[in-house]
Amino acid sequence: MFPTGFVWGAATSAYQIEGSLSADGRGRSIWDTFCGQDGRIVGGDNADTAIDHYNRYRDDVKLMADLGLTAYRFSVSWPRIQPDGSGAYNAQGLDFYKRLVDELLSYGIDPWLTLYHWDLPQPLEDAGGWPSRDTSKRFADFAATVHAELSDRVRHWSTVNEPWCSAFLGYASGEHAPGRREPAAALRAAHHLNLAHGLAVQAMRAQNADSQIGGCVNVYPVTPATGSEADQDAARRIDGLQNRFFLDALLKGAYPEDVLADLGHLSDMEFIQDGDLATISAPLDMLLINYYSRFTVSGAPGGAASAAAAPTDSGSPWIGSEHVGFVNGGRPVTSMGWEVDDSGLYEILRRIADEYPRVPLYISENGAAYDDEIGEDGSVHDPERLAYIEAHLRTCHAAIESGIPLQGYFAWSLMDNFEWAWGYGKRFGLVYVDYETQARTLKSSALWYADAIRHGGLLGRAQ
Ligand code: FCB
Repeated sequence: MFPTGFVWGAATSAYQIEGSLSADGRGRSIWDTFCGQDGRIVGGDNADTAIDHYNRYRDDVKLMADLGLTAYRFSVSWPRIQPDGSGAYNAQGLDFYKRLVDELLSYGIDPWLTLYHWDLPQPLEDAGGWPSRDTSKRFADFAATVHAELSDRVRHWSTVNEPWCSAFLGYASGEHAPGRREPAAALRAAHHLNLAHGLAVQAMRAQNADSQIGGCVNVYPVTPATGSEADQDAARRIDGLQNRFFLDALLKGAYPEDVLADLGHLSDMEFIQDGDLATISAPLDMLLINYYSRFTVSGAPGGAASAAAAPTDSGSPWIGSEHVGFVNGGRPVTSMGWEVDDSGLYEILRRIADEYPRVPLYISENGAAYDDEIGEDGSVHDPERLAYIEAHLRTCHAAIESGIPLQGYFAWSLMDNFEWAWGYGKRFGLVYVDYETQARTLKSSALWYADAIRHGGLLGRAQ
């Protein structure tokens, strides 16, 4: 049994589900541009329709209510609300999220709003994108406006979803929008995403609402493939870039010295200005953790190819550590090729609870892609996803028992959706979506999850 008040949620993001990209005054985002370029998205897919959530949100909220979710994590689309990323706001865009939130509240589902899940307004990219400091300020203005408009009905706020991905997949490997391969620019982007987080927290706090505000990171335990010095150094480097660059900045107010040293050849770090780290590390009410897998790494020259291979032709996201190889640790993998390891979730939670100032923790994303098919009887059996979620929830329970301040869990994702550079080929949903008809079908994992929520624990098994 989980503690009373444990948050049972599911998550999505605007770009992956909404569609209606030119409806009601929405501007263009970097993902619209990226999807329009040859070779960027597997199969040439795009998110023009996605799963049509913009038109079907009422039915989707009803599904959430049927599942018994106590919370729903979603993101707002910046170009829908502020088409140019600066200047005028679009009331019709804001109204969509007000309607969505009101619908959630009418079922007693707590809305958890993410301000940025990767869909930067294209005009801001044209002006330099995240490598430009001004983008952080634009984001803080945007955050202030959305917060002013919605904090009367939304209590839980998070700033930037997975800054690692925006910075390093967007500007170093180029496998995400805007598709640039400029390691030095990626480093600046990473800092400016952290700064955007800090400035947005400040702007929201200044409004004095009763909001719970957090940042959101994607973290992985990193283990060296062997005890060799080269492998241990590889693990230090990848842990530094993936985890400590963000956790230390947000929670300790400092960048790890060893990481800055690894990157010294790329920059003199003049973009880190006095006071930035104090802004970035303003106290948080909660930390949102996205957890999927773990990394095993090798520093030997010619190490194995990345286990987390990119779907399309791309460079390395691991700036300054491009030589590191990602080794298969021998565990079962999902259809993303990501190793399934719930013990890694415990490891990372333990570490965050032990090494960083104590702050309530939430798993804001966790889940798995498998090649689901709809059966002749119209049902979708996804025993592997069910087992994945069950194992990770059991680990969450063990974490709570051991004193880690974990207070909720959001499955990724509520519904199958547009999986970025992978297009529609990778299904993460608890709910199956037929992309031709937009019909939604609860998978067996969804029925199982609903059962767990009803019981407040993992006693009821639908398996
Ligand atoms: C995370 C993203 C989310 C989804 C999952 C599978 O990195 O935040 O949008 O793509 O991975």
